[in-house]
Amino acid sequence: MTDVISRLPKAELHVHIEGTLEPEMMFDMARRNGVELPFRSVEEVRAAYEFTDLQSFLDIYYQGAAALQTPQDFYDLMTAYLDRAATDGVRRAEIFFDPQTHTSRGIGFEVFMDGFREAMADAVRRHGISADLILCFLRHLPAGDAVATIRAAEPHLEGVIAVGLDSSEVGYPPELFVEAYEIARSFGLRAVAHAGEEGPPEYVWNALDILGVERIDHGVRSLEDPDLVARLVRDRVPLTVCPLSNVALKVVDGLEDHPLPRMMEAGLLVSVNSDDPAYFGGYVGDNYRGLADVLGFGEEELTRLARNSIESSFLTADRKAALLAYLERV
Ligand code: ADE
Ligand code: ZN
Repeated sequence: MTDVISRLPKAELHVHIEGTLEPEMMFDMARRNGVELPFRSVEEVRAAYEFTDLQSFLDIYYQGAAALQTPQDFYDLMTAYLDRAATDGVRRAEIFFDPQTHTSRGIGFEVFMDGFREAMADAVRRHGISADLILCFLRHLPAGDAVATIRAAEPHLEGVIAVGLDSSEVGYPPELFVEAYEIARSFGLRAVAHAGEEGPPEYVWNALDILGVERIDHGVRSLEDPDLVARLVRDRVPLTVCPLSNVALKVVDGLEDHPLPRMMEAGLLVSVNSDDPAYFGGYVGDNYRGLADVLGFGEEELTRLARNSIESSFLTADRKAALLAYLERV
């Protein structure tokens, strides 16, 4: 099945670039930048990756990001992800980044955007992989900071296609960020948001109706509300689901309990993605493999997920059709 999975052309629509920082790279960068990490070794970092919920992960994730300092660091991080994604058959990547994680440490947009853009341009040449960025607002910070962030981002938006909303979900509902989303829309950006990962179905409704998002990240708790499911099916709203992440953050007890099969049966437009692969034990191919191994997904289901991922992407209709035609040939 590994061969089938890596040959299936697919889009990855839910991956946080800061969540692709492998412990080895974290240590290399910390060393070359003279940054003190709160861990003594790669083994100690990995041992700390025992999460009880989203917050327990985020606390460590923001510490790890401190190693990232220079344009070269951001270039190396993005290159490592895109090289790895290419081996998993990813032909299109829409990649989250958290500017506030960096600007709050005194690292400006020009530093990370230069590194990201150069790596993305090189990956097009090396792998033919197409990539764009999604700028995420950190929802645990005041909504005014999100507004200041999108205004500060304005001169740096080349390669950014959309805005998103991530970090601690419960207690930070989507409607707090309506002004930042309105500004982003006035800049020509599209919109997505994390909702229904730990938060209730109401957060999914408000992301759709108040923020006007086109895609929901996670959305697994949508199943608790049949009216919401009907709405998501009717409007073919894509949900970017991350099975191994949901297991690692205890959103579900195990892969065998994951609601993905029920979501597919309900007619939802679901795709499979890695979220923070360096922290959750696997890249996008590992997520597909987990579904095959534990839930018995066969070629038909895996192909449907790959097809959904392309359909859910922000590619133009022409490029979607070309990639879908290629998928059918494979
Ligand atoms: N930031 C990185 N990964 C995240 C997740 N799974 N949920 C919310 N914020 C995140
Ligand atoms: Zn996420």
